[in-house]
Amino acid sequence: MNVVTIGTGYVGINTAAALAYIGHHVAGVDVDARKIAMLRERRAPISEAGLDALLASLQTIRFTTELSEVLGEADVVFIAVGTPSRPDGQANLDYVYSAAAQIGAALSPARDVTIVVKSTVPVGVNGMIETRIREAVQTRGGDGTKLHFASNPEFLREGCALHDTFYPDRFVIGTRDDKAFQMLTELFAPILEQSFVPPASVPSPSPRPRPQCLHTDPISSEMVKYASNVFLALKISYANEIAGLCEKLGGNMADISRGMGMDRRIAPYFLQSGLGWGGSCFPKDSLALLSMARDYGYEMPIVEAAVHVNRRQLDRIVFKILDKLRVLPGKRIAVLGLSFKPNTDDVRNSPSVELAQELVRRGACVCVHDPAGLANARTIYKDDGFLFCDTPAEAAKNADALVIATDWADYRALDWSAIRRLMRGACLFDARNLLRDTMVKNPHLLDGFEYQGL
Ligand SMILES: NC(=O)c1ccc[n+]([C@@H]2O[C@H](COP(=O)([O-])OP(=O)(O)OC[C@H]3O[C@@H](n4cnc5c(N)ncnc54)[C@H](O)[C@@H]3O)[C@@H](O)[C@H]2O)c1
Repeated sequence: MNVVTIGTGYVGINTAAALAYIGHHVAGVDVDARKIAMLRERRAPISEAGLDALLASLQTIRFTTELSEVLGEADVVFIAVGTPSRPDGQANLDYVYSAAAQIGAALSPARDVTIVVKSTVPVGVNGMIETRIREAVQTRGGDGTKLHFASNPEFLREGCALHDTFYPDRFVIGTRDDKAFQMLTELFAPILEQSFVPPASVPSPSPRPRPQCLHTDPISSEMVKYASNVFLALKISYANEIAGLCEKLGGNMADISRGMGMDRRIAPYFLQSGLGWGGSCFPKDSLALLSMARDYGYEMPIVEAAVHVNRRQLDRIVFKILDKLRVLPGKRIAVLGLSFKPNTDDVRNSPSVELAQELVRRGACVCVHDPAGLANARTIYKDDGFLFCDTPAEAAKNADALVIATDWADYRALDWSAIRRLMRGACLFDARNLLRDTMVKNPHLLDGFEYQGL
């Protein structure tokens, strides 16, 4: 089939690459000319395992900034543009509606096309996109009978986005249109059936189960996405709340999380205590869910509490730092990790960045490092008063304290005694509890440090 993906960010580019790999002709469209220039050279604009190699191997994919150039041939069009938060927590739908307007203006009324919303959008927005595109096509003489619409929310995790695209747990299609359902199941058949040969750069898990497929209505499909993301955020906040209590009562949170996770009803994921959740999805999706509820006069105290607990984690680590260092002006603090989680270069809405910003605000000189997110951070946070460092050692030099803000495996493997020798002070704040096991099993590796977890 001929496929167009509008947006070549974390969702769009992985979807586009996977669909091209399983045999479709794909055009990736983005308004960001820099991304398109990189993609034309088969360079991934984001850091994702296996993506560069996959892009280099693909013959049936092309990239453009001009939707109108490629829309005429499309059988399926994905909308995969961003839906960031507005200051009041509502999802900003400008990009989604702008993509819809572009589709409506350029689509041939004579062509059978299925339009699929992959962006995370509040309940009802799929319906609104459909209305707007139908109206636009009708003003150009079409009767809209050839247009089909579906919601197909994305569940990939940054850091293993291609893996999740090729080997998803589930596939949700929200549509009342049989043709749209049929197009999507045909399009993704090799993935739904797990019948494709795994790409060399994205090996398959073993065993290799078929994803479960849920066919539902668009509103339920939209809500599955929010309800899932916010549930995962709740789990992390709950683990953080228990960890805070354990700090008072005693008890080892790593063991407690392990013990909880041994129950299949709970599962071991998203129970790690630490600085809290962030990134481009959980914060905005929890705020958007609360905003939807507010619009309908419905209270969601559990979700509100999860957001509150998450914000409190930042204060908890800041007060631990203040307890030790006292006055921050004149102090030098190394912050290791800026991405919101390891294995991604995404530094948007990262609690690690918020921590570094708070330390700057309180007068500290903050030296930051990240294994993958430094280039993005240098652009996005260039005016935030950070000293950007190319290595952890550079960040640690003459530091009064060091904070591990993102749990990159690279940091676990550091030569900590060498880091200690570079530092002026001894405080090591492990806001992700990355070295907690080391503290228990090989404490000599952290000799000379005053260690505190969160
Ligand atoms: N990042 C994730 O892990 C993830 C996972 C699941 C779902 N989602 C959801 O998917 C959507 C996209 O997220 P993302 O992280 O890929 O966003 P992103 O910010 O990485 O990428 C969005 C891209 O869309 C482009 N764009 C905006 N308007 C456009 C237009 N009119 N035409 C063409 N391109 C346009 C932007 O330039 C950008 O490159 C969001 O709704 C997000 O919530 C994200």
